[in-house]
Amino acid sequence: MSLSPIGVFDSGFGGLTVLREMVTALPQYDYLYLGDNARTPYGTRSFETVYHYTLECVTYLFDQGCPLVIVACNTASAKALRTIQQRDLPKMRAGLRVLGVIRPTAEVIGNSTRTGHVGVLGTSGTVASESYPIEIGKFFPDVSVHQQACPLWVPLIENNEHQGDGADFFIQKYLDELIAQSSSIDTILLGCTHYPLLMEKIKAHVAKEVTIIPQGKIVADSLTDYLSRHAEMESKLSRNGTRNFLTTDDAAAFDSKARIFYGAGVASRHIAL
Ligand code: DGL
Repeated sequence: MSLSPIGVFDSGFGGLTVLREMVTALPQYDYLYLGDNARTPYGTRSFETVYHYTLECVTYLFDQGCPLVIVACNTASAKALRTIQQRDLPKMRAGLRVLGVIRPTAEVIGNSTRTGHVGVLGTSGTVASESYPIEIGKFFPDVSVHQQACPLWVPLIENNEHQGDGADFFIQKYLDELIAQSSSIDTILLGCTHYPLLMEKIKAHVAKEVTIIPQGKIVADSLTDYLSRHAEMESKLSRNGTRNFLTTDDAAAFDSKARIFYGAGVASRHIAL
């Protein structure tokens, strides 16, 4: 069967939280997920490195027949997406598209705040890129954006320590550091694919009035809207409801951990880039 799936790329497992929402919203399409587990995490790497890794993975997905690739990784969206869209895509065959997760989130996040103060939690790379304040500022110029890097949250989750008591210390620490920037923050965006797994603990550590926003559903809604406005892309996508998973690291290791992010079992295949 020759497929034209929606490609979904992440540095590792995290993008599965976004894919999960996309397949719920748009189950009819075929999806091909690529996790660059061999080189994860991206959150601590330089712009140059994240750009090269991301370009390699996005190109791979295009070569597998995906006309559309979603970069479901905040760090890669922050550090590589624009360059790929502006510099690399025009040199590739016509009709390919690559979209990220930051812009669709920035387009709506300001609607959730009444105080006009939004907190953004992300990797060190996402925070350093300033992508969220810049993008949110375009849509909601009156909203103040306060950022906090949470470098230990991804390792806690990847090591399956995120539900234990040990996680509470670092959850509290970064949330305190965020709230110390402004006590008016009433909306906190989880600007990293992994953080939805910490939802319950994060809620327990902030005031009841604060709304915590994961971005998977936002990205899925944005994709739905994009496809409704771009018939030329929508008509290219195959619709057999298949989900295929690729990893640059060990497939069995991927499959055993993927469930906590995706909510269902997966059977992945190893690829070498
Ligand atoms: N997927 C990354 C993100 O959303 C988190 C994991 C990593 O640092 O690679 O920023």
